[in-house]
Amino acid sequence: MPTTDRTTSKTQSAAKTAEHLEGSEEIFEASEEDAGVIIHSAPEDQTVSDTDNTSTNSLMASDTENQDQAQKIRKRRKRRRIILRSLAALLLFLALFVTYELLISRYGLKTTHYTIETDRIAEDIRVVHLTDLHDAVFGKDNSRLIEKVREQDPDVIFFTGDIFNYKQEVKVDKAVSLLKALCGIAPVYFSYGNHEMPLIQNDGVDLKTLFEAAGAVVVERSYVDTEIKGQALRIGGIYGYCLPFLYALETGREDETAFLRDFQDTDRFTCLLCHMPVAWIRQHSLYDYDIDCVFSGHVHGGQIILPFAGGVYGPDMGWFPGKMAGIFETDESTYHSFRKDMKRWAQMYHFDSSDYEGEGTYRPSRLILSTGLGNTDKVPRFNNIPEILVLDIKAKGGENKQRE
Ligand SMILES: [Fe+2]
Repeated sequence: MPTTDRTTSKTQSAAKTAEHLEGSEEIFEASEEDAGVIIHSAPEDQTVSDTDNTSTNSLMASDTENQDQAQKIRKRRKRRRIILRSLAALLLFLALFVTYELLISRYGLKTTHYTIETDRIAEDIRVVHLTDLHDAVFGKDNSRLIEKVREQDPDVIFFTGDIFNYKQEVKVDKAVSLLKALCGIAPVYFSYGNHEMPLIQNDGVDLKTLFEAAGAVVVERSYVDTEIKGQALRIGGIYGYCLPFLYALETGREDETAFLRDFQDTDRFTCLLCHMPVAWIRQHSLYDYDIDCVFSGHVHGGQIILPFAGGVYGPDMGWFPGKMAGIFETDESTYHSFRKDMKRWAQMYHFDSSDYEGEGTYRPSRLILSTGLGNTDKVPRFNNIPEILVLDIKAKGGENKQRE
């Protein structure tokens, strides 16, 4: 066969091979070799006519096109491979991330430290605040939790409810033995959450007696005037929304207001254990009641915490309600505008507005909101490590100043 014919035949074969490159990488490699053979297969000393030269040139151009096309296909396949591998790596990363976050949000334990200052005590006091255990267990008989609390060397421990889940089999015994162990570390004050209330109200269980037998002080619409490290504290508790006075009148919750007004009427440093935080955050209750520190739980920091987006849902607060953990502190300008708003509102609804006359005396109040330790069975915690909250109350000025 003449060289040009051979070349033509090989070129056609290479072109066909190139057309079928989509099939596999091996075939693709073969076709590329074929193309190589075509270019170098004509002997250098071969004498050819002008027509033959033109034909050869056009075939060479065609080969170059084939090579370009083959290269494009190779690049496309390479890009597809990279995308697939990246997707697989991303999925693997996400699966590992989700698994890790679910596990650490169930079995991990972190301590979060906050500090506030007050002129009502002369010596620093360390509070450990626990909440929303929901039957979670950290080590055998909660030994890991107990040890971590002990390490913090608290002067007092507050537990703001939901120690167990209210369901068919309530684990009261485990709650009692945990409280007993905590009482071996520091005095424990306990207030009820929404999982204790039905057990008391519907099932008639006397939790107060059980928990107080363990050594804890149960505060429910009650308070205790006590001394911690020689400092005068009033520690109370209430299960309820604790709306501002006028809203409470409107919604028939004046009984809560009566308790809170009595509670705030002291020169002592006041700590209120109140499971539900919503009114303290959303309805300006912190501005209405003169309480130094309110300790809450209930919202579990949003239960599922998404990176950059925060807590997903808060009971009574809706979807993505914003900050749901840490310290919420009043500021003076909002205090004065709140008083004006309440006065206007009282006049509009024919309530007695005398409480809101004048500027009033501003003192800072804070809500200390913990993400808690556990969750109910329905939705797991995510990206939300169980929390032991530690609050250092620092003495400002060195002397226990009294309220005016
Ligand atoms: Fe809870």
